[in-house]
Amino acid sequence: MVVVETIDDLKRLRLKLTEPVGFVPTMGYFHQGHLALVRQARAESPSVVVSIFVNPTQFGPEEDFDRYPRDPQRDLALLEKGGVDIVFMPSVDEMYPPQFNSWVEVGKVAERLEGASRPGHFKGVATVVARLFDIVQPDKAYFGQKDAQQLVVIKKMVADLNMNLEIVAVPTVREPDGLAMSSRNTYLNPKERKAATVLYQALSLAQKLWSQGERNTERLRQQMTALIQKQPLADIDYVSIADAETLDELDKVKSPALVSLAVRIGKTRLIDNVVVG
Ligand code: PAF
Repeated sequence: MVVVETIDDLKRLRLKLTEPVGFVPTMGYFHQGHLALVRQARAESPSVVVSIFVNPTQFGPEEDFDRYPRDPQRDLALLEKGGVDIVFMPSVDEMYPPQFNSWVEVGKVAERLEGASRPGHFKGVATVVARLFDIVQPDKAYFGQKDAQQLVVIKKMVADLNMNLEIVAVPTVREPDGLAMSSRNTYLNPKERKAATVLYQALSLAQKLWSQGERNTERLRQQMTALIQKQPLADIDYVSIADAETLDELDKVKSPALVSLAVRIGKTRLIDNVVVG
């Protein structure tokens, strides 16, 4: 495994890789969710590139960029074990030199849900991912279903800009009690960690009601909201039932629908989702 920090070095090594190339963009601090992306890339492609870059432009001014968890040595050891060929770990200056001033904005699908709560977030995500795709030139890139809207935004960007690669969605990896794995789970104290299971409980309730025939999204949202509100540490940002491709909110569940939510547990904002239908 080779670790490189500059775009020039990455491009030089990229020329020597056996095609097709699988790419896993990450912000590091790996959990089983990241490792599932790497495993799938490894199984499907003879060459695997992983990037580790905590992208400042996708964090709002009041968000956790500075305290976002980082452990590059542990990450590199895990990637070495996972059989990765190249790890790209650029500095902020390498990705955003002082004169940098070009941005990718994806429009409607990026403006709702996470986009509404975190203005500018997807502009940062789309820009860094477009830049990484241009640098790495992957044939396939792997993203977790946990960040469902991020997947929708990236697929739309790839389609609109005719980028020549396939986007692969990898199922969410969960803790035994259902909590979706996330680097931000490390912010939770033991009480909050217990309370955080309410997100998956609410999603499971929606799945159960849907499988019993409930199609009215207002009633589904109400039941989910009532369940979450019973948890005193939980503060709802949104509960959404939307078309899985356009992210338009639905009155009646039509398949496939994305049931997603964002909930603050103490000071930590968590997101999760399931697809029904
Ligand atoms: O999902 C993430 O970790 C990040 O949003 C990504 C895709 C690596 C872009 O910084």
